[in-house]
Amino acid sequence: MTSTFSKRKTKISKNELFSLAKLVFLIPVTIIIFLLIFLWSSSSTIISGNVIHLCFQSRKLNDLYCISAGSHSNLEASSSLSSNLTTSATKFVDDLQQKSTRLGIPIPPGYHAFRNGMVKSDEELLVAYNDVEDQLEMHRSWTSTIQNHNATLCDGRGVYVYDLPTKFNKDLVSQCADMVPWVDLCDYFSNDAMGEPVHKLGKGWYQTHQYSLELIFHSRVMNHPCRVHNISEADLFYVPFYAGLDVLRWHFKNVTNVVKDSLGLELVKWLESQPTWFKRSGKDHIFVLGKISWDFRRYSNSNWGSRFLELNEMQNPVKLLIERQPWHLNDIGIPHPTFFHPQSDNDITTWQLKLLNESRKSLISFAGAARPDAPESIRSILINQCTSTSDQCTFMNCSSGSCDQPESIIELFIESEFCLQPPGDSPTRKSVFDSLISGCIPVIFDPFTAYYQYPWHLPQDYKKYSVFIDQEDVRNMKVNVVDRLMKIPAGEKQNMRRYIIYELLPGLVYGDPKSKLEKFQDAFSITMNNLFERLTRLEV
Ligand SMILES: *[C@@H]1O[C@H](CO)[C@@H](O)[C@H](O)[C@H]1NC(C)=O
Ligand SMILES: *[C@@H]1O[C@H](CO)[C@@H](O)[C@H](O)[C@H]1NC(C)=O
Ligand SMILES: *[C@@H]1O[C@H](CO)[C@@H](O)[C@H](O)[C@H]1NC(C)=O
Ligand SMILES: *[C@@H]1O[C@H](CO)[C@@H](O)[C@H](O)[C@H]1NC(C)=O
Ligand SMILES: *[C@@H]1O[C@H](CO)[C@@H](O)[C@H](O)[C@H]1NC(C)=O
Ligand SMILES: *[C@@H]1O[C@H](CO)[C@@H](O)[C@H](O)[C@H]1NC(C)=O
Repeated sequence: MTSTFSKRKTKISKNELFSLAKLVFLIPVTIIIFLLIFLWSSSSTIISGNVIHLCFQSRKLNDLYCISAGSHSNLEASSSLSSNLTTSATKFVDDLQQKSTRLGIPIPPGYHAFRNGMVKSDEELLVAYNDVEDQLEMHRSWTSTIQNHNATLCDGRGVYVYDLPTKFNKDLVSQCADMVPWVDLCDYFSNDAMGEPVHKLGKGWYQTHQYSLELIFHSRVMNHPCRVHNISEADLFYVPFYAGLDVLRWHFKNVTNVVKDSLGLELVKWLESQPTWFKRSGKDHIFVLGKISWDFRRYSNSNWGSRFLELNEMQNPVKLLIERQPWHLNDIGIPHPTFFHPQSDNDITTWQLKLLNESRKSLISFAGAARPDAPESIRSILINQCTSTSDQCTFMNCSSGSCDQPESIIELFIESEFCLQPPGDSPTRKSVFDSLISGCIPVIFDPFTAYYQYPWHLPQDYKKYSVFIDQEDVRNMKVNVVDRLMKIPAGEKQNMRRYIIYELLPGLVYGDPKSKLEKFQDAFSITMNNLFERLTRLEV
């Protein structure tokens, strides 16, 4: 352990992202217990089937630290890891459950807090923390230099899309009307799941639902230039199971966990009838999941979501998710879908020029809702700071329905220089991507919101495109966010905005399935190229 510790220390100190020097202030274990009280919705505590992690932030440390039951740093799944759930930990989760029952809300996925047995040493903290960065480094090492937009480069890059029985995808979509009690999703799933066009915003804009990624990606991969129809010519295998819709349809219904898990188990059985599934132990199989990882990693006492990603059979495949579980190497974060689905290079360039031409009347904006049931959430503090300086900051109250229309959000963001992105029900936010494609610099309060999620689509140097303010400083009223942002020089803002608009934006959008992009690579092409690249690095 000691040697690992010192080796890592050298390595990390070179890492600009989060300086290790701050670790001298490591918090005693006892304080962690008190911190647990805050963890209920601070996006910081994480448990997954057989791996347990406790993350926390301290006043002294600028960054998030996690305690892990173990680490894993190769391509194999980490099924050997195991930990005991202690009595007190179980009790803590019970308390959370009672609280959520009382409030009439489901337990937020992934926020189960744990203690005892996990914190063995300070070194262990570091190992867990380093583990996340190692995984991102590994993901980044798969970045492809190829920019192929046509079939000329498909040799050794064939992708086969399984033709699954319709119960695994189409039949789920057809339940759109009553999947979620308060909204009919059918319109959202029209137009290849881009939704209804939003003419007011221009060409390529649609009312896209945040959980549509598995449908959008499926349409795109069907049109991929390297798609093969002969399975023996395939290198990658795409499994179009809409697992996100599968969990979504049960979230708000009173059914047993057996019911929630059944379709996922059937899918695994179906795959096991395919010889190709065994060829590389599933490592060349790809899933796209349109919901956050926690929804598929149900904790034993909970009734939220499924256990699909906890199945042994699901450890080897790559899971592309809008929010990854930070300690699972084969969970890879890819952008949340936004409202913009360009068809051509020109659609992108037109939008870029429009953004560069915007006058940005508001310094800061925040579109969101408070979390009155979560007293430790920094949202109320941010709303107060924002509304008390209304000449600098615009607050759009999402509790009152004003955020339902894409145009209201996007029009606010294209007029703002900074967009506040505090964690919500989980660390990541679709709004981060809405703000980036509006040329609004996101202000991030938790590294798990973006920096620890999207290694293929966002650069390691987060200062190029965002401002980081530690949520703990906000919670302790040590920083006024408006004052802090007002001090950022115009030149710095300009550089970040140009970087976002020119360098990042094209790679953050999922083009129309009919799109013909030549000059730009969108989020889909980047993902596919890197998946092929990863495959060439896998040991057979
Ligand atoms: C789990 O608990 C049992 C009994 O208390 C103990 O024998 C075992 O070593 C523990 N396992 C781990 C991984 O700590
Ligand atoms: C494919 O891409 C190559 C290199 O970018 C280009 O030279 C070629 O003309 C393209 N072919 C087609 C059919 O678009
Ligand atoms: C599929 O590809 C394999 C290997 O290239 C070939 O032997 C086989 O004939 C092909 N099958 C069909 C139906 O084209
Ligand atoms: C859910 O269903 C079970 C079994 O049918 C029933 O006992 C329970 O009261 C139901 N819970 C709610 C909240 O409706
Ligand atoms: C830029 O803005 C000016 C005035 O605000 C307008 O006249 C011009 O058409 C705009 N250009 C583009 C490319 O939108
Ligand atoms: C936002 O809207 C909700 C519902 O209309 C309201 O209860 C709340 O006070 C509003 N918040 C602010 C800060 O205006």
